[in-house]
Amino acid sequence: MQRIGILTSGGDAPGMNAAIRAAVRTARAKGMSVAGYHDGYTGFVENRYTELTSRSVGNVIQTGGTFLGTSRCKAFLDPKVRAESVAQMREIGVEGLVVIGGDGSFRGALTLESEHNIAVAGIPGTIDNDVWGTEETIGFDTAVNTAMRAIDQLRDTGESTGMMFFVEVMGRTSGAIAMYTALAGGAASVVVPEEDEDWTVIARHIKDQMARGKKSHIIVVAEGEQAGGAFAVAGRLGARLDHEFRVVILGHIQRGGSPTMRDRLVASQSGALAVEALHQDRSGFMVGIQHSTPVLVPLKEAVERGHPEPRMDVLALARHIAG
Ligand code: F6P
Repeated sequence: MQRIGILTSGGDAPGMNAAIRAAVRTARAKGMSVAGYHDGYTGFVENRYTELTSRSVGNVIQTGGTFLGTSRCKAFLDPKVRAESVAQMREIGVEGLVVIGGDGSFRGALTLESEHNIAVAGIPGTIDNDVWGTEETIGFDTAVNTAMRAIDQLRDTGESTGMMFFVEVMGRTSGAIAMYTALAGGAASVVVPEEDEDWTVIARHIKDQMARGKKSHIIVVAEGEQAGGAFAVAGRLGARLDHEFRVVILGHIQRGGSPTMRDRLVASQSGALAVEALHQDRSGFMVGIQHSTPVLVPLKEAVERGHPEPRMDVLALARHIAG
């Protein structure tokens, strides 16, 4: 393989730039050139790309977001548009494609492989940590650290005033950010989409903590439809608890910021392995992290299995040691 393309797709995540950097430098070391598509599949469809060299990915390892840009591209869903895009891609000599994103982005890559026999590699990049076959997606660690720091700050004011906070964190349909943030931030309770909540039990748990003299109460709520988000949860629990509260929505703050060491490491390992494997004429895989080691996972299996099992042990521990 002489030339590859690379794109970032879906929600941006801190560490995507580190993954692009590792992929580009690995490719250049193996004598391959790299086309960096702008704005995800949108740039792929519109044939908008930049030639990436080892120098052009300098000074990005520490930056959040994705310097290539990203999107959720509707046009790509049309088979005719895909066929035209592939013809364009072949015209500029691109033989394989690295896609950094979540399971939706991988579905797109698999379609290109099956319809047009293009070599594809996936790198899980989403703050949600909801891709099967990997322990960590790029961006998750940074997002949890951001949410944890926000909770630390809320605790300062909570300890001073006795205020209760309902803090909504991101995660679309996954409670991973909420569970890990609740544990690491020492939250009083946590509400996630993976569980049907018993509001009476949660209220009793928090009342017990109040009776023991706990002053600041932080309840982490995963966004999403199941529980209706932090405002709905606050409405349900606030009335039972008879305590003054505020709702804090952390929102897109969690998507930005300089990636943590963990995200830079995972991104660098994943970018390098993805390109090495493409260079060895492998296709249809993603780089997963298993037992803290980067490995190749069949992309089809990752997509078909859907979301990974939620870490109910982390949730249980967060609740068990809240006090
Ligand atoms: O998938 C990443 C994510 O940040 C989710 O946690 C969140 O639900 C969603 O993206 C927000 O998407 P948008 O930026 O399109 O509002």
